[in-house]
Amino acid sequence: MNTARRALYTLALSLASSWACAAVTVTVDATRPGPVINKNVYGQFVEHLGGGIYDGLWVGPKSRIPNTRGWRNDVVGALKELKVPLVRWPGGCVADDYHWRDGIGPREKRTVRVNASWVDVNETNAVGTHEFFDLAEQLGAETYVNGNLGSGTVREMADWIEYMTGDSQSTLARERRKNGRDKPFKVDFFAIGNESWGCGGEMKPEAYAALYRQYHTFLRGGPGVRPKMIASGGHSGDPIWTDVLSRELKGKTMGISHHYYTVPTAQWEPKGPALGFQEDQWMSTIRQTLLMDGHIKKNIAALDQNDPENKIGLLIDEWGTWYDPDPGTNPGFLIQQNSLRDAVVAALNFNIFHQYPERVTMTNIAQMVNVLQAMIMTQKDKMILTPTYHAFHMYRPFQDAASLPATIADNENYSFGKDTVPVVSVSAARAKDGKLYLALVNTHPGKATEVALNVNGKNVAGVNGRVLTAEAMDAHNTFTNPKALQPVTYEAKAVDGKLSLRLPAKSVMVVAVNER
Ligand code: AHR
Repeated sequence: MNTARRALYTLALSLASSWACAAVTVTVDATRPGPVINKNVYGQFVEHLGGGIYDGLWVGPKSRIPNTRGWRNDVVGALKELKVPLVRWPGGCVADDYHWRDGIGPREKRTVRVNASWVDVNETNAVGTHEFFDLAEQLGAETYVNGNLGSGTVREMADWIEYMTGDSQSTLARERRKNGRDKPFKVDFFAIGNESWGCGGEMKPEAYAALYRQYHTFLRGGPGVRPKMIASGGHSGDPIWTDVLSRELKGKTMGISHHYYTVPTAQWEPKGPALGFQEDQWMSTIRQTLLMDGHIKKNIAALDQNDPENKIGLLIDEWGTWYDPDPGTNPGFLIQQNSLRDAVVAALNFNIFHQYPERVTMTNIAQMVNVLQAMIMTQKDKMILTPTYHAFHMYRPFQDAASLPATIADNENYSFGKDTVPVVSVSAARAKDGKLYLALVNTHPGKATEVALNVNGKNVAGVNGRVLTAEAMDAHNTFTNPKALQPVTYEAKAVDGKLSLRLPAKSVMVVAVNER
């Protein structure tokens, strides 16, 4: 959209629209701040998969693409703007095939392997442990390293932790120093295996729990630097892994992971295209993504039963949309365009995660760059910010904010075919800057909605922030039109003490509330 068209569109969003629905009322209780929404709910996942690391993030120090010690300046700069709090690496399925020694020492001498998880391309191991921590340090992010349970050994995993965190004169700590890193790396989180029910070894939860206990015994780390340990759990809502692991691993894990991907057709083949879909797949995508709430509830119920002290978190360390690969791309690279629909999906999930701040203390969208529901897509030296990037950007105030109860009265329903979903989704929080933020989503692809805002205990003068919307359901950015879809400013003022927000069709809005 060019500047003039965008200005007109902004105006149109702010003015009255004849096709708006009747008022939905959102009530926020600002007098009852709840638990903090952990910033790591906005975590990211990066895997050795397709262009997810190589080319997308890592170009090597000798590249003509501007970089800092091999990491692209443009991509890292954009990610810094997002305030990425946490990065998970090296997989995914790759984690259980990853041997850390392949990725240390002089780059030209590193072991080249075949990436057995993802279409057998050469894995040069140019990105290894030192490079990963350099990326995390450039981003100012916490680190989440996923260990190899499936094809590794206890010794290998214990050595990796000692190599990364040891501050002694042990041979492993000295080797790290020889490789250029004097002080220990800060490993914030460490997972023992990934998807151990599938690509991580096709185990049963009881067998995994026994192995976890064995590994956990020997993963010591230096004094006071033991990473917080994560157990690899189940998927798609089934609470059996959460149930078994929360009984078996008491005192030995800070959280159990859970994976759930939003697939429009609810089946793996075909999944549905990223672009050019019709309203049936708009609806099915929204329906499928809203299932996240029930999946979380079921798993938290198991945790509440086995861990009433709330010592174990539910970590959604892989989530996002998964479509058919973009036509003409390598199907194993999981390249998919990213449209307004993805931004709506992201925001709906954020609003769900915010409801469980005490259990859902981490999530990692899959994946950061070029793979699945990416923040950024690259093509040689070009980069585009996706609608999902913009949703993450708009929601930055929610990182480490105090959640606030927000309820919706008279919500509208959106129906298509046999499906019906609520039109408005909401979340509210008191951010670290002291302001009250409100996030709203309109799931209806064709109707704007009036939202009356009522903040208990406070007089509200107005709101200002940004809204992301477009005319087409699959509006997206391209390398030739990288700014086609961007958030625009939005503000509304109270009239006679009453504040009403116009939430455009298929939109994501985040506003700061001006309290008097
Ligand atoms: O994110 C892509 C893959 O999805 C991951 O490697 C795996 O953990 C999951 O099945």
